[in-house]
Amino acid sequence: MLMETSEIAPAETAGIAPGAPIVHGTNVGKTFAGGSVVALEGATFDIAKGEFVSLVGPSGCGKSTLLRLISGLIDLSSGQMSVHGDPVKGPRTDVGMMFQKATLLEWRTAIENVLLPTELNGTITAKDKRHAAELLELVGLKDFMFSYPSQLSGGMQQRVALARLLQTGADVLLLDEPFGALDEFTREHLNVELMRIVAEFGATTIFVTHNITEAIFLADRVGVMTPRPGRLAAMVPVNFPRPRELSLQTTPEFNVLVEQVRNTLGSH
Ligand SMILES: Nc1ncnc2c1ncn2[C@@H]1O[C@H](COP(=O)(O)OP(=O)(O)OP(=O)(O)O)[C@@H](O)[C@H]1O
Ligand SMILES: [Mg+2]
Repeated sequence: MLMETSEIAPAETAGIAPGAPIVHGTNVGKTFAGGSVVALEGATFDIAKGEFVSLVGPSGCGKSTLLRLISGLIDLSSGQMSVHGDPVKGPRTDVGMMFQKATLLEWRTAIENVLLPTELNGTITAKDKRHAAELLELVGLKDFMFSYPSQLSGGMQQRVALARLLQTGADVLLLDEPFGALDEFTREHLNVELMRIVAEFGATTIFVTHNITEAIFLADRVGVMTPRPGRLAAMVPVNFPRPRELSLQTTPEFNVLVEQVRNTLGSH
C-alpha cells in the first residue's frame, strides 16, 4: 500500500502544512477592472519549506493570479500574504517564476542565458560561471552549454529556463504551466527530472497545471481551484513516497486520487 487514505479537507483547515510555513496567505483576494472582475477570493493557505504544491483548476480560475500575487508582481486587493515571514510588498529575490514559454534571449548561448540574472545584479565572477555550468549539468544540458536557443528543442529550452531560475538563488519556485507547451513524452520526462532537481535544492515549489495526473504525480498536496469567483476550494494531500516513478500513475491508489480531485473540481 503506497498511501494512507486521504481525505479532502477544505483549504481553510487542510492549509496548515507541517514544518515552518514559507508561503502564507490569509483570505487573499484579487479583483481587476475596478472591482468588477473577481479573479481570486478568500484564499487561505500555508506552504511548508521544501513542500511541492500543485494548483489545478479550469482556465480563468485564478491560478496565474495567485502565483503573481505570491511573487509580488501584482498587489493584493484583500487579505494578507507573507513569504519567509515577511509581508509581500513587491518582487523579491527569494521568489522566482517560470512560465510556459522559456523567454530566452536568442542571441545568447545557454550558459549566457543562465548567467543573465547574475549579470543584471552586477559583474559575473568565475564562481558564477562554474555555478551556471553546474546547473546546466543538473538539468541535463552539459553538452549544450554553448548552444543557442534556436539550436535547442522546446524541452531543452525549458531546461535552460529552469537553470536560469535556480541561478537566481530563489528558494520559492513558482512554475506556471512550465511544460504545458511540450509534447506528453517530453513533459513526463521533465516532470521526473523536476522532482529530482527541486528535491536536491530543497526548494519550495508551487506548480500550476491543467493536468490532474501531472498535478498529483508531482505534489505533496494539490490545491484545487474553482472559478467565478476564483477560490482555493480544497487542498488534497498526496502521500505517495518519493522518489516516484511514472508507473505510479497506473496504480489503483493513484487513480482513486485522480477521481477525488476530479470530483472536487466538478462539485463546485
Ligand atoms: N490584468 C488583468 N486585468 C483584468 N483581468 C484579469 C487580469 N489578469 C487576470 N484577469 C482575470 O482574472 C481571472 C483569472 O485569471 P488567471 O490568469 O489567474 O486564470 P488562470 O487560472 O491562470 O487561467 P489559465 O488556466 O487560462 O491560465 C480571469 O477572469 C481573467 O480574465
Ligand atoms: Mg494561467
